[in-house]
Amino acid sequence: MANLIITIDGPAASGKSTVARLLAERLGASFLDTGAMYRAVTLAAMQADVNMNDQDQLLDVLEKRKFQFAAKNNKTTVSIDGADVTEQLRLPEVTANAKYIASAAKVREKLVEMQRQFAAGEETIVTEGRDQGTVAFPDARFKIYLIAQASERARRRAIDEGRTSPNEIEQIQKDIEERDAGDQNRAVGPLTPAADAVVVDTTGSSVEEVVDKLLKIVNDKLPITNHQLPVTSPSTSLRMVSPSNHYKLPKMRWFRFARGLCKIFCLTFFKLHPEGRENVPYHGPLVLICNHQSFLDPVLCGIFVKRPLHFLARSTLFRGLLGRLITSVNTIPVRRDEADLTAMRVVISKLKQGHGVCLFPEGTRTRDGKITAFKPGFGLLCRRGGADIVPVIIDGAFEAWPRHKKLFSPGSRIDIRYGKVISAAEVKKMDDRKLAELLTETLRKMQNDCRVEQGKKPFDYK
Ligand code: DC
Repeated sequence: MANLIITIDGPAASGKSTVARLLAERLGASFLDTGAMYRAVTLAAMQADVNMNDQDQLLDVLEKRKFQFAAKNNKTTVSIDGADVTEQLRLPEVTANAKYIASAAKVREKLVEMQRQFAAGEETIVTEGRDQGTVAFPDARFKIYLIAQASERARRRAIDEGRTSPNEIEQIQKDIEERDAGDQNRAVGPLTPAADAVVVDTTGSSVEEVVDKLLKIVNDKLPITNHQLPVTSPSTSLRMVSPSNHYKLPKMRWFRFARGLCKIFCLTFFKLHPEGRENVPYHGPLVLICNHQSFLDPVLCGIFVKRPLHFLARSTLFRGLLGRLITSVNTIPVRRDEADLTAMRVVISKLKQGHGVCLFPEGTRTRDGKITAFKPGFGLLCRRGGADIVPVIIDGAFEAWPRHKKLFSPGSRIDIRYGKVISAAEVKKMDDRKLAELLTETLRKMQNDCRVEQGKKPFDYK
């Protein structure tokens, strides 16, 4: 299940979709528009001309057709069997018929299952609908219930649809009130606030004001005080949602699986001693700055961190099977011996989307176990990405697998220590050189403290 689920439920035209999508963008989270799922099944059922009161026929439509959902340019696009039906989903007859899908228990059950499946593959998700906090995700960390006066909802919808004469607005309000009654009174997944939902009245508020309010609710309550969720600029990245039977293995799940395998491997061959994992923020733009002792370092740095990370590797490795494998676990190619602007842009954009990146500013593996002075280039990435920095030291990996050896020696003790976070605000105050000096010094001190504790001779860095 996702690390952080935020549900947004509420009546028709309460602004859920717009607010949820913007909130997801500001948090670097995935977004799920469950209303679009119900509408898509409605349209497919209408196209198949099935009996709207026959649950089995409706379920058959859901199972046989291929539905694909994506967030694009601030709106959810939907295709059925490859044909884009986004525009058709808002047709009045689809809106009117959605009530049949919404009240078919078997179809709801299946859609809720798909919603959970999708959430399971995401780190952070904002999901909106009618029953997200009550049925689909009763254990969600944050539950929001948006309301607004029916007259205001009708006015917003009228503006959206360009039907703004008094008669049209009156009709829209009547339809909205009818849909509210239908949503609230159906036997399955009825519209109702979860007991632990925060009710937010959006009457008289702009979309931005509502999004800011929700961000505050989320940030105020997050357990890790230093690490507020990111307030990033809206991202335009695509987020594929495939609530169909044709699920691809979600990337997140694959990453976790690969990380699990790496962990088993490392725990089998080495005596690992991680410390300070609680210093690593769960959310938000993050750079782990790590010393480089061996080939094992990206794995050693990443296996104890509870969030997925991105890594950099030299572009010549991205060939054949190895290339596909490292790409699948979030590795970004970087060209050596030149300022690779593309790689830098990718890292900054990943950070802006709220991801974590692991960097080794020494550039190459140590020749003697010591930490060489960091190159200052990483400062720009951290500042532009608005990232917190966590210093990480690895000690013992050099003994386990020094650069002059072809194979590692099993059984060595390896310490991995995560230091105290340097907030994005502090990072912004330093120039590249100062930041590089501070981190070189911090990591050297952490490494020597660790060595002294293990009865090893500290390195002489004078
Ligand atoms: O939010 P919307 O207007 O796009 O929703 C379309 C229909 O789907 C509406 O009739 C309510 C229904 N729905 C639902 O029953 N449960 C959800 N989680 C989402 C939508």
